[in-house]
Amino acid sequence: MRKNIVAGNWKMNTTVAEGVELAKAVVAKSSEVPASTGLIIAPPFTHLVPVAEAIKGSVIGLSAQNCADKEKGAYTGEVSADMLVSAGCAYTILGHSERRQYYGETDAKLVEKVKLAIAHGLSPIFCVGENLEEREAGRHFDVVTEQIKNVLYTLSAEEMAKVIIAYEPVWAIGTGKTATAGQAQEIHACIRKVVAEKFGELAEDITILYGGSCKPSNAKELFACPDIDGGLIGGAALKADDFIAIALSF
Ligand code: 13P
Repeated sequence: MRKNIVAGNWKMNTTVAEGVELAKAVVAKSSEVPASTGLIIAPPFTHLVPVAEAIKGSVIGLSAQNCADKEKGAYTGEVSADMLVSAGCAYTILGHSERRQYYGETDAKLVEKVKLAIAHGLSPIFCVGENLEEREAGRHFDVVTEQIKNVLYTLSAEEMAKVIIAYEPVWAIGTGKTATAGQAQEIHACIRKVVAEKFGELAEDITILYGGSCKPSNAKELFACPDIDGGLIGGAALKADDFIAIALSF
């Protein structure tokens, strides 16, 4: 059976000291969350080592927000999958729309990143989602299907079993506009069907998260949908109380 997960993407927020404090606050409240719900936090690279120390012995998993498409070597400014593992990460977000939109991340690059991350023992939190123009043109199912096919169809079943998918409609990220539970459920069901077309029954075990202005006030309705297995949380993950309230919304 697939696991419910609530993951916090801190994006480019907090200093190291603030990040450690936030991680400690999440740890302090994490005992309220039932074991059936996985908790993950994704701080910036600079915070990973001290945050790993702060969450040591807790149930919280550590994720990066990105990782390099190369193993190692002369790639100034990049951070490799191996480095993330050595810093204490078990996960990395890949293909976030902000990386696709502002840093030119293509599906071809994401194939490399996803494969490398898995080869080094990380579980990718692979993000897909359409922008406003694509949604208004009624192309959202096609866009998300293509993103899944272009990247995840290149994986073996063994590799695919490590992947968490996050559906994040770009028009709902940081805008306060959330997809309705109905809009989210229909696309999550589509994602699961597309995964099943290639990987069969494994699709039932894949966790699919919703992301985009998810907060304590709307999480319950979203998480009640049969194909929504939790959330990838941005803004609300910067407050320990809100993050935990979301994790208590199943
Ligand atoms: P918000 O929750 O701030 O809309 O961000 C969602 C997101 O992009 C998480 O990765």
